[in-house]
Amino acid sequence: MSAPGASPGSAPREWDAGSYHRVSTPQQQMAVAVLERLPLRGDEVVLDAGCGSGRISEMLLDRLPDGKVIAVDASEKMVERARDHLAGFGERASVQVADLTALAGPESLDLDAPVDAVLSTATFHWIADHDALFAALASVLRPGGRLVAQCGGRGNIDSARGVVATVQAQAPYAAHFAGWEPPWHYASPEDTTERLERAGFVEVDCRLRPWPVVPDDPEEFLRTVIIAPHLDQLPPSLHDPFVADVLEAFAATESGQVELDYVRLDIDALSS
Ligand SMILES: C[S@@+](CC[C@H](N)C(=O)[O-])C[C@H]1O[C@@H](n2cnc3c(N)ncnc32)[C@H](O)[C@@H]1O
Repeated sequence: MSAPGASPGSAPREWDAGSYHRVSTPQQQMAVAVLERLPLRGDEVVLDAGCGSGRISEMLLDRLPDGKVIAVDASEKMVERARDHLAGFGERASVQVADLTALAGPESLDLDAPVDAVLSTATFHWIADHDALFAALASVLRPGGRLVAQCGGRGNIDSARGVVATVQAQAPYAAHFAGWEPPWHYASPEDTTERLERAGFVEVDCRLRPWPVVPDDPEEFLRTVIIAPHLDQLPPSLHDPFVADVLEAFAATESGQVELDYVRLDIDALSS
């Protein structure tokens, strides 16, 4: 089975939102430091670009007692889960399905005015066309508004993906990966700076930060986050065997456990 979104440039993939909500504590921990970089008075309107199941939007709303969060995601299941999660915030949380690369001005978010800031965590590396992404974000951000983001950067989970690749290359899986293009785009700080400046951002600062993770529930974390795109490529009958073989391959590594060598790309910039 070949899923939509399995290669760069195609439509975003669907997610198991309930599982992501359960296992995404590492992403939430990464997001704490990202949020701290965003200066807020508390009455701004902020776009959470790629809100997932809403855990980070909730932390953002806690910093906006008189403001509003526009939480956007391309996955309908994630948006449904985020709506449930943020229901208690009433009109201060607007959760919308949209492809971030297709935003074109505040009206595309049902807003009369551009947003004051954009926050994004763990999302940009799922998007192939960063030029389109940054142009779209610039179109909804007010002049002088801040973009604060973090995503997977150059070298992200290289070793872990190497372990998965050894399994992928074996029968009966290999045939399903012929011509497969992995969906992730782990950009460098240099390329990202250039792209942001081309999209009209100024005072751009991008840098890499290693962030190793050992997930609490390795099997579910692998299934839902790390090898979800691989599973999209495989028929359902091969899902459990693939997961079992990947876990066995991690068990055979030096550390004997699922260690994920995350490398995050931190991004700060201002709209001109
Ligand atoms: C790993 S989750 C991160 C969610 C949340 N920000 C967090 O840190 O937990 C990545 C999210 O990006 C969303 N996404 C990927 N491509 C997208 C696109 N083109 N437009 C909007 N959302 C997208 C996915 O649907 C998914 O919910």
